[in-house]
Amino acid sequence: MAIISSKKQSPQPERPDDDIFLASEKKTRYKTKKSKSQTETAEVEALLEAEATTEEKSGNQNEEKIRPQRLDEYIGQKDLKEVLNIAISAAKSRKESLDHLLLYGPPGLGKTTMSLILAAEMEVNCKITTAPAIEKPRDIVGLLVGLQKGDILFIDEIHRLSKMTEEILYPAMEDFRLDITVGQGKTSKTRSIPLKPFTLVGATTRVGSLTSPLRDRFGLIQRLRFYEVDELSLIIIRAAKLLNTDITEDGAEEVARRSRGTPRIANRLLRRVRDYSEVKKLTPINAEVAGEALELFNVDPLGLDWTDRNLLRTMIENYNGGPAGLETMAAATGEDAQTIEEVYEPYLMQIGFMQRTPRGRVVTSAGWRHLGFSPPDEQLSLKL
Ligand code: ADE
Repeated sequence: MAIISSKKQSPQPERPDDDIFLASEKKTRYKTKKSKSQTETAEVEALLEAEATTEEKSGNQNEEKIRPQRLDEYIGQKDLKEVLNIAISAAKSRKESLDHLLLYGPPGLGKTTMSLILAAEMEVNCKITTAPAIEKPRDIVGLLVGLQKGDILFIDEIHRLSKMTEEILYPAMEDFRLDITVGQGKTSKTRSIPLKPFTLVGATTRVGSLTSPLRDRFGLIQRLRFYEVDELSLIIIRAAKLLNTDITEDGAEEVARRSRGTPRIANRLLRRVRDYSEVKKLTPINAEVAGEALELFNVDPLGLDWTDRNLLRTMIENYNGGPAGLETMAAATGEDAQTIEEVYEPYLMQIGFMQRTPRGRVVTSAGWRHLGFSPPDEQLSLKL
Protein backbone atom coordinates (compact mmCIF):
# COMPACT_ATOMS: atom_id res chain seq x y z
CA MET A 1 0.00 0.00 0.00
CA ALA A 2 1.50 3.31 -1.01
CA ILE A 3 1.55 6.36 1.17
CA ILE A 4 0.27 9.11 -1.04
CA SER A 5 1.46 12.61 -0.29
CA SER A 6 2.88 11.72 3.10
CA LYS A 7 6.16 13.37 3.80
CA LYS A 8 9.35 11.50 4.66
CA GLN A 9 9.93 11.20 8.38
CA SER A 10 12.22 13.86 9.74
CA PRO A 11 13.99 12.99 13.00
CA GLN A 12 11.98 14.13 16.00
CA PRO A 13 13.75 16.22 18.66
CA GLU A 14 15.01 14.12 21.55
CA ARG A 15 12.52 14.67 24.30
CA PRO A 16 9.98 12.64 26.12
CA ASP A 17 6.62 12.47 24.39
CA ASP A 18 4.76 13.53 27.47
CA ASP A 19 5.80 17.20 27.33
CA ILE A 20 2.78 17.54 25.11
CA PHE A 21 -0.36 15.74 25.83
CA LEU A 22 -4.06 15.70 25.31
CA ALA A 23 -7.02 15.64 27.64
CA SER A 24 -7.08 11.89 27.93
CA GLU A 25 -3.35 11.47 28.65
CA LYS A 26 -2.12 11.19 32.23
CA LYS A 27 1.65 10.93 32.23
CA THR A 28 4.50 12.45 34.23
CA ARG A 29 5.26 15.98 33.05
CA TYR A 30 8.57 16.75 31.44
CA LYS A 31 10.28 19.40 33.53
CA THR A 32 11.37 22.54 31.74
CA LYS A 33 13.02 25.77 32.88
CA LYS A 34 10.83 27.94 30.63
CA SER A 35 8.13 30.22 32.07
CA LYS A 36 4.65 28.76 32.29
CA SER A 37 3.20 30.60 29.31
CA GLN A 38 6.31 29.93 27.21
CA THR A 39 6.01 26.28 28.06
CA GLU A 40 2.36 26.17 27.08
CA THR A 41 3.03 27.83 23.75
CA ALA A 42 5.98 25.55 23.09
CA GLU A 43 3.88 22.52 23.96
CA VAL A 44 1.17 23.42 21.49
CA GLU A 45 3.68 24.33 18.78
CA ALA A 46 5.64 21.14 19.28
CA LEU A 47 2.47 19.13 18.98
CA LEU A 48 1.41 20.90 15.83
CA GLU A 49 4.81 20.51 14.26
CA ALA A 50 4.93 16.81 14.97
CA GLU A 51 5.02 14.76 11.81
CA ALA A 52 2.87 11.74 11.46
CA THR A 53 4.33 8.33 12.01
CA THR A 54 2.90 6.64 8.97
CA GLU A 55 3.66 3.12 8.04
CA GLU A 56 5.34 3.44 4.68
CA LYS A 57 4.68 0.46 2.47
CA SER A 58 6.16 1.00 -0.95
CA GLY A 59 3.55 0.15 -3.51
CA ASN A 60 4.25 -2.73 -5.82
CA GLN A 61 4.76 -0.96 -9.16
CA ASN A 62 2.75 -3.51 -11.12
CA GLU A 63 -0.11 -3.13 -8.69
CA GLU A 64 -0.02 0.66 -8.99
CA LYS A 65 -0.03 0.36 -12.79
CA ILE A 66 -3.27 -1.62 -12.86
CA ARG A 67 -5.12 0.16 -10.06
CA PRO A 68 -8.15 2.01 -11.50
CA GLN A 69 -7.74 5.77 -11.14
CA ARG A 70 -11.29 7.02 -11.63
CA LEU A 71 -14.76 5.84 -10.67
CA ASP A 72 -15.72 5.00 -14.26
CA GLU A 73 -12.70 2.65 -14.58
CA TYR A 74 -13.70 0.82 -11.40
CA ILE A 75 -15.48 -2.46 -12.17
CA GLY A 76 -18.11 -3.93 -9.81
CA GLN A 77 -19.53 -2.66 -6.47
CA LYS A 78 -22.39 -1.06 -8.43
CA ASP A 79 -24.37 0.13 -5.39
CA LEU A 80 -21.33 1.60 -3.70
CA LYS A 81 -20.34 3.47 -6.85
CA GLU A 82 -23.84 4.93 -7.14
CA VAL A 83 -23.82 6.13 -3.55
CA LEU A 84 -20.37 7.65 -3.93
CA ASN A 85 -21.19 9.30 -7.24
CA ILE A 86 -24.05 11.14 -5.56
CA ALA A 87 -21.92 12.07 -2.55
CA ILE A 88 -19.16 13.40 -4.83
CA SER A 89 -21.54 15.46 -6.99
CA ALA A 90 -23.29 16.91 -3.94
CA ALA A 91 -20.05 17.78 -2.15
CA LYS A 92 -18.59 19.33 -5.30
CA SER A 93 -21.63 21.47 -6.03
CA ARG A 94 -21.67 22.70 -2.42
CA LYS A 95 -17.88 23.16 -2.52
CA GLU A 96 -17.64 21.12 0.67
CA SER A 97 -15.50 18.19 1.71
CA LEU A 98 -17.01 14.71 1.33
CA ASP A 99 -18.75 13.23 4.33
CA HIS A 100 -16.64 10.86 6.44
CA LEU A 101 -16.87 7.38 4.99
CA LEU A 102 -16.51 3.97 6.60
CA LEU A 103 -15.78 1.09 4.21
CA TYR A 104 -16.01 -2.43 5.53
CA GLY A 105 -15.67 -5.92 4.13
CA PRO A 106 -13.14 -8.71 3.62
CA PRO A 107 -9.56 -7.83 2.61
CA GLY A 108 -8.58 -7.26 -1.02
CA LEU A 109 -11.92 -5.90 -2.27
CA GLY A 110 -10.66 -2.38 -3.04
CA LYS A 111 -11.08 -0.16 0.02
CA THR A 112 -7.76 1.62 -0.49
CA THR A 113 -8.36 1.88 -4.23
CA MET A 114 -11.76 3.45 -3.62
CA SER A 115 -10.24 6.00 -1.27
CA LEU A 116 -7.64 7.00 -3.89
CA ILE A 117 -10.37 7.25 -6.51
CA LEU A 118 -12.43 9.52 -4.25
CA ALA A 119 -9.41 11.79 -3.86
CA ALA A 120 -8.89 11.87 -7.64
CA GLU A 121 -12.57 12.64 -8.25
CA MET A 122 -12.58 15.39 -5.62
CA GLU A 123 -9.17 16.67 -6.85
CA VAL A 124 -7.63 16.50 -3.39
CA ASN A 125 -4.75 14.60 -1.78
CA CYS A 126 -5.11 11.29 -0.02
CA LYS A 127 -2.92 10.42 2.95
CA ILE A 128 -2.87 6.74 3.74
CA THR A 129 -2.05 5.18 7.05
CA THR A 130 -3.07 2.27 9.21
CA ALA A 131 -4.33 2.34 12.80
CA PRO A 132 -1.45 0.33 14.34
CA ALA A 133 1.00 2.97 12.97
CA ILE A 134 -0.77 5.68 14.99
CA GLU A 135 0.81 5.04 18.35
CA LYS A 136 0.92 8.40 20.08
CA PRO A 137 -1.26 11.55 20.11
CA ARG A 138 1.40 13.36 18.10
CA ASP A 139 0.98 10.84 15.26
CA ILE A 140 -2.69 11.56 14.66
CA VAL A 141 -2.26 15.27 15.42
CA GLY A 142 0.59 15.45 12.89
CA LEU A 143 -1.58 13.81 10.27
CA LEU A 144 -4.58 16.04 10.93
CA VAL A 145 -2.75 19.36 10.94
CA GLY A 146 -0.95 18.42 7.72
CA LEU A 147 -4.20 18.05 5.78
CA GLN A 148 -5.19 20.68 3.22
CA LYS A 149 -8.79 21.75 2.65
CA GLY A 150 -10.86 18.80 1.44
CA ASP A 151 -8.04 16.24 1.72
CA ILE A 152 -8.78 12.62 2.47
CA LEU A 153 -7.20 10.81 5.39
CA PHE A 154 -7.44 7.05 4.89
CA ILE A 155 -7.02 4.93 8.01
CA ASP A 156 -6.89 1.21 7.40
CA GLU A 157 -7.82 -1.27 10.15
CA ILE A 158 -9.61 1.58 11.89
CA HIS A 159 -11.07 -0.81 14.48
CA ARG A 160 -7.56 -0.97 15.95
CA LEU A 161 -7.27 2.72 16.95
CA SER A 162 -6.35 3.40 20.56
CA LYS A 163 -8.93 5.04 22.81
CA MET A 164 -6.82 8.17 23.02
CA THR A 165 -6.56 8.51 19.25
CA GLU A 166 -10.30 7.99 18.93
CA GLU A 167 -10.95 10.77 21.41
CA ILE A 168 -8.79 13.16 19.42
CA LEU A 169 -10.70 12.19 16.30
CA TYR A 170 -14.18 12.92 17.69
CA PRO A 171 -14.00 16.78 17.63
CA ALA A 172 -11.76 16.60 14.56
CA MET A 173 -14.42 14.68 12.63
CA GLU A 174 -17.39 16.55 13.99
CA ASP A 175 -16.22 20.18 14.08
CA PHE A 176 -12.81 20.09 12.34
CA ARG A 177 -11.22 21.01 15.65
CA LEU A 178 -8.37 19.70 17.76
CA ASP A 179 -8.72 19.95 21.53
CA ILE A 180 -5.31 20.09 23.12
CA THR A 181 -4.81 20.14 26.86
CA VAL A 182 -1.68 21.79 28.14
CA GLY A 183 -0.55 21.61 31.73
CA GLN A 184 -1.75 19.18 34.32
CA GLY A 185 -4.24 19.01 37.14
CA LYS A 186 -5.89 22.27 38.26
CA THR A 187 -3.64 24.43 36.08
CA SER A 188 -4.39 22.56 32.87
CA LYS A 189 -6.06 24.41 30.02
CA THR A 190 -7.72 23.15 26.90
CA ARG A 191 -6.88 24.90 23.66
CA SER A 192 -8.94 24.42 20.55
CA ILE A 193 -7.12 24.50 17.26
CA PRO A 194 -9.08 24.73 14.02
CA LEU A 195 -8.42 22.17 11.30
CA LYS A 196 -9.12 22.45 7.61
CA PRO A 197 -12.27 20.55 6.59
CA PHE A 198 -11.24 17.03 5.61
CA THR A 199 -12.72 13.61 4.97
CA LEU A 200 -11.84 10.60 7.04
CA VAL A 201 -12.13 7.33 5.16
CA GLY A 202 -11.92 4.43 7.58
CA ALA A 203 -11.51 0.86 6.41
CA THR A 204 -12.12 -2.26 8.41
CA THR A 205 -12.67 -5.96 8.05
CA ARG A 206 -14.50 -5.95 11.42
CA VAL A 207 -17.18 -3.29 11.49
CA GLY A 208 -18.63 -4.81 14.67
CA SER A 209 -15.40 -4.04 16.53
CA LEU A 210 -15.70 -0.28 16.07
CA THR A 211 -16.87 1.65 19.11
CA SER A 212 -20.28 3.20 18.55
CA PRO A 213 -19.12 6.82 19.11
CA LEU A 214 -16.61 6.38 16.29
CA ARG A 215 -19.01 4.52 14.01
CA ASP A 216 -21.70 7.17 14.57
CA ARG A 217 -19.41 9.93 13.30
CA PHE A 218 -19.28 8.51 9.79
CA GLY A 219 -21.90 10.01 7.49
CA LEU A 220 -21.61 7.10 5.07
CA ILE A 221 -21.14 3.46 6.07
CA GLN A 222 -20.71 1.16 3.10
CA ARG A 223 -19.98 -2.54 2.68
CA LEU A 224 -17.82 -3.93 -0.09
CA ARG A 225 -19.05 -7.32 -1.26
CA PHE A 226 -17.30 -10.17 -3.02
CA TYR A 227 -17.15 -9.75 -6.80
CA GLU A 228 -19.02 -11.92 -9.29
CA VAL A 229 -17.03 -14.05 -11.77
CA ASP A 230 -18.06 -11.83 -14.71
CA GLU A 231 -16.85 -8.73 -12.87
CA LEU A 232 -13.54 -10.37 -12.02
CA SER A 233 -13.16 -11.50 -15.66
CA LEU A 234 -13.43 -7.87 -16.77
CA ILE A 235 -10.92 -6.81 -14.10
CA ILE A 236 -8.50 -9.50 -15.33
CA ILE A 237 -8.91 -8.52 -19.00
CA ARG A 238 -8.29 -4.87 -18.10
CA ALA A 239 -5.20 -5.74 -16.01
CA ALA A 240 -3.84 -8.07 -18.72
CA LYS A 241 -4.06 -5.24 -21.24
CA LEU A 242 -2.14 -2.92 -18.94
CA LEU A 243 0.48 -5.64 -18.38
CA ASN A 244 0.72 -6.37 -22.16
CA THR A 245 -0.41 -9.95 -21.61
CA ASP A 246 -2.43 -11.87 -24.15
CA ILE A 247 -5.42 -13.59 -22.53
CA THR A 248 -8.62 -15.00 -24.02
CA GLU A 249 -12.08 -14.46 -22.52
CA ASP A 250 -12.27 -18.05 -21.30
CA GLY A 251 -8.72 -17.74 -19.90
CA ALA A 252 -9.78 -14.68 -17.90
CA GLU A 253 -12.90 -16.50 -16.71
CA GLU A 254 -10.85 -19.49 -15.54
CA VAL A 255 -8.63 -17.18 -13.46
CA ALA A 256 -11.70 -15.28 -12.22
CA ARG A 257 -13.42 -18.46 -11.01
CA ARG A 258 -10.39 -19.26 -8.88
CA SER A 259 -10.01 -15.76 -7.42
CA ARG A 260 -12.30 -16.09 -4.37
CA GLY A 261 -14.40 -13.08 -5.40
CA THR A 262 -11.40 -10.82 -4.74
CA PRO A 263 -9.65 -8.50 -7.26
CA ARG A 264 -6.38 -8.55 -5.32
CA ILE A 265 -6.27 -12.33 -5.68
CA ALA A 266 -7.36 -12.14 -9.34
CA ASN A 267 -4.46 -9.84 -10.16
CA ARG A 268 -2.03 -12.01 -8.20
CA LEU A 269 -3.16 -15.17 -9.99
CA LEU A 270 -2.99 -13.39 -13.34
CA ARG A 271 0.71 -12.67 -12.68
CA ARG A 272 1.39 -16.33 -11.79
CA VAL A 273 -0.42 -17.50 -14.94
CA ARG A 274 1.46 -14.95 -17.03
CA ASP A 275 4.81 -16.30 -15.72
CA TYR A 276 3.71 -19.85 -16.56
CA SER A 277 2.56 -18.98 -20.08
CA GLU A 278 5.75 -17.04 -20.80
CA VAL A 279 8.10 -19.71 -19.52
CA LYS A 280 6.20 -22.57 -21.21
CA LYS A 281 5.67 -20.44 -24.34
CA LEU A 282 1.93 -21.10 -24.18
CA THR A 283 0.25 -17.95 -25.43
CA PRO A 284 -2.36 -16.62 -25.44
CA ILE A 285 -3.53 -17.60 -21.95
CA ASN A 286 -6.67 -19.64 -22.56
CA ALA A 287 -8.75 -21.65 -20.08
CA GLU A 288 -6.52 -24.70 -20.43
CA VAL A 289 -3.26 -22.81 -19.81
CA ALA A 290 -4.80 -20.90 -16.88
CA GLY A 291 -6.15 -24.14 -15.37
CA GLU A 292 -2.79 -25.94 -15.69
CA ALA A 293 -0.88 -23.03 -14.18
CA LEU A 294 -3.22 -22.66 -11.24
CA GLU A 295 -3.24 -26.41 -10.52
CA LEU A 296 0.54 -26.11 -10.33
CA PHE A 297 0.18 -23.28 -7.82
CA ASN A 298 -2.25 -25.41 -5.78
CA VAL A 299 -5.28 -23.22 -6.42
CA ASP A 300 -8.27 -25.49 -7.02
CA PRO A 301 -11.18 -24.84 -9.44
CA LEU A 302 -13.10 -22.91 -6.77
CA GLY A 303 -10.04 -20.93 -5.70
CA LEU A 304 -9.41 -22.82 -2.49
CA ASP A 305 -5.75 -23.07 -1.57
CA TRP A 306 -3.90 -25.47 0.73
CA THR A 307 -4.94 -23.55 3.88
CA ASP A 308 -8.66 -23.52 3.01
CA ARG A 309 -8.62 -27.22 2.31
CA ASN A 310 -6.60 -27.94 5.45
CA LEU A 311 -9.15 -26.04 7.54
CA LEU A 312 -12.06 -27.99 6.07
CA ARG A 313 -10.22 -31.33 6.23
CA THR A 314 -9.18 -30.80 9.86
CA MET A 315 -12.75 -30.00 10.86
CA ILE A 316 -14.05 -33.06 9.03
CA GLU A 317 -11.40 -35.52 10.19
CA ASN A 318 -10.95 -34.29 13.78
CA TYR A 319 -14.38 -32.90 14.66
CA ASN A 320 -16.71 -34.75 12.32
CA GLY A 321 -17.33 -31.46 10.49
CA GLY A 322 -18.04 -29.43 13.64
CA PRO A 323 -19.32 -27.53 15.45
CA ALA A 324 -15.83 -26.40 16.38
CA GLY A 325 -14.82 -23.11 18.02
CA LEU A 326 -12.51 -20.63 16.31
CA GLU A 327 -9.69 -21.13 18.84
CA THR A 328 -9.98 -24.90 18.49
CA MET A 329 -9.65 -24.60 14.72
CA ALA A 330 -6.67 -22.29 15.10
CA ALA A 331 -4.91 -24.67 17.50
CA ALA A 332 -5.65 -27.72 15.34
CA THR A 333 -4.41 -26.15 12.10
CA GLY A 334 -1.65 -23.88 13.39
CA GLU A 335 -3.28 -20.89 11.70
CA ASP A 336 -3.87 -17.55 13.42
CA ALA A 337 -7.47 -17.26 14.73
CA GLN A 338 -7.92 -13.72 13.42
CA THR A 339 -6.66 -14.70 9.96
CA ILE A 340 -9.07 -17.64 9.89
CA GLU A 341 -11.93 -15.37 10.88
CA GLU A 342 -11.14 -12.44 8.58
CA VAL A 343 -9.49 -14.04 5.55
CA TYR A 344 -10.53 -17.68 5.18
CA GLU A 345 -13.98 -18.00 6.70
CA PRO A 346 -15.76 -15.19 4.81
CA TYR A 347 -15.14 -16.86 1.46
CA LEU A 348 -15.82 -20.39 2.71
CA MET A 349 -19.14 -19.10 4.04
CA GLN A 350 -19.83 -17.16 0.84
CA ILE A 351 -19.53 -20.31 -1.28
CA GLY A 352 -21.58 -22.27 1.23
CA PHE A 353 -18.84 -24.60 2.53
CA MET A 354 -18.97 -23.40 6.13
CA GLN A 355 -21.54 -21.97 8.50
CA ARG A 356 -21.22 -20.12 11.78
CA THR A 357 -23.62 -21.42 14.40
CA PRO A 358 -23.98 -20.42 18.07
CA ARG A 359 -22.09 -23.62 18.99
CA GLY A 360 -19.22 -23.06 16.56
CA ARG A 361 -18.24 -23.50 12.93
CA VAL A 362 -19.74 -26.30 10.86
CA VAL A 363 -18.65 -27.68 7.46
CA THR A 364 -21.68 -27.98 5.16
CA SER A 365 -22.47 -31.03 3.00
CA ALA A 366 -21.10 -29.14 -0.02
CA GLY A 367 -17.84 -28.60 1.86
CA TRP A 368 -17.56 -32.33 2.70
CA ARG A 369 -18.21 -33.28 -0.92
CA HIS A 370 -15.72 -30.73 -2.33
CA LEU A 371 -12.96 -32.42 -0.31
CA GLY A 372 -14.06 -35.86 -1.49
CA PHE A 373 -15.83 -36.99 1.71
CA SER A 374 -19.43 -38.19 2.02
CA PRO A 375 -21.32 -35.89 4.34
CA PRO A 376 -22.79 -37.54 7.50
CA ASP A 377 -26.43 -37.30 6.23
CA GLU A 378 -25.45 -39.15 3.04
CA GLN A 379 -23.48 -41.75 5.04
CA LEU A 380 -26.63 -42.31 7.08
CA SER A 381 -28.84 -42.77 4.04
CA LEU A 382 -26.28 -45.18 2.49
CA LYS A 383 -26.50 -47.36 5.61
CA LEU A 384 -30.30 -47.52 5.52
N1 ADE B 1 -8.30 -3.68 -10.07
C1 ADE B 1 -8.55 -4.02 -8.82
N2 ADE B 1 -9.81 -3.80 -8.50
C2 ADE B 1 -10.41 -3.29 -9.60
C3 ADE B 1 -11.73 -2.88 -9.90
N3 ADE B 1 -12.71 -2.96 -9.02
N4 ADE B 1 -11.96 -2.42 -11.14
C4 ADE B 1 -10.98 -2.37 -12.06
N5 ADE B 1 -9.74 -2.75 -11.81
C5 ADE B 1 -9.44 -3.22 -10.60
